[in-house]
Amino acid sequence: MEIWAHRGASAVAPENTMAAFVKAYESGADAIEVDVQRTSDGVLVIMHDETVNRTTQGRGYIYSASFAWLSQLDAGYKFSSSFHGERVPTLDQTLSFVESTSLRINIELKIVQNTYVGIEEQVIDAIKQRDLTDRVVISSFHYPSLRRIKQLDPNQAIGLLCTQYNAVTPMYAKQFGAEAVHPHWKTISPTYMNEAFEQNIKIRPYTVNDPRIVRTLNAWGIDAVITNHPGLVRKVITTN
Ligand code: G3P
Ligand code: MG
Repeated sequence: MEIWAHRGASAVAPENTMAAFVKAYESGADAIEVDVQRTSDGVLVIMHDETVNRTTQGRGYIYSASFAWLSQLDAGYKFSSSFHGERVPTLDQTLSFVESTSLRINIELKIVQNTYVGIEEQVIDAIKQRDLTDRVVISSFHYPSLRRIKQLDPNQAIGLLCTQYNAVTPMYAKQFGAEAVHPHWKTISPTYMNEAFEQNIKIRPYTVNDPRIVRTLNAWGIDAVITNHPGLVRKVITTN
């Protein structure tokens, strides 16, 4: 079972920061999951929310902020004073870090309607510039963006995010050319897993932090879990 670190090792470091990505790598994660947004001047940055309010001292929407302003924000201190001074990483900084490790990366496209026009092209360009296609999976709850990604690069692996896995989910995955479905963990079952396996579709549930759930999913033979706590999950599956 692979371990994918949700927003990096976000249980032990501020989410979606370089500190969280480094911790994920050090804890034995196989991949990091990150969320991408875009500033008013077109820089792709790693943040989960549409605004900077929850994770930094600033206020406002990312799409209306300049990168110069955003890059001054402190993305660490709200998590803990020991992370004071952590910055919001750009996608390119994050790809550069991934390149220097054996990690893979799951880039989740966060789509703000009518605002991030052309973000799919930008993300594909950033990946290609570093020749990282084989180490990237792009996921989104916004399926038109996944369709666009496949049009831009049929070799780019994509994962269909869904809050509710159901009997027709594999059919959707096939239609979109997705190699995987990333569902909420509560909605999957061994039956669904076997059906997906037969159709060569991987299931990587989010967000799995409870050791009991980790053990159950591992026993089912799940492909990967997306977790805030890669170190804990590594310990659980190696002491099983
Ligand atoms: O990729 C899984 C997970 O990140 C999806 O939800 O809201 O944490 O981005 P969210
Ligand atoms: Mg995400």
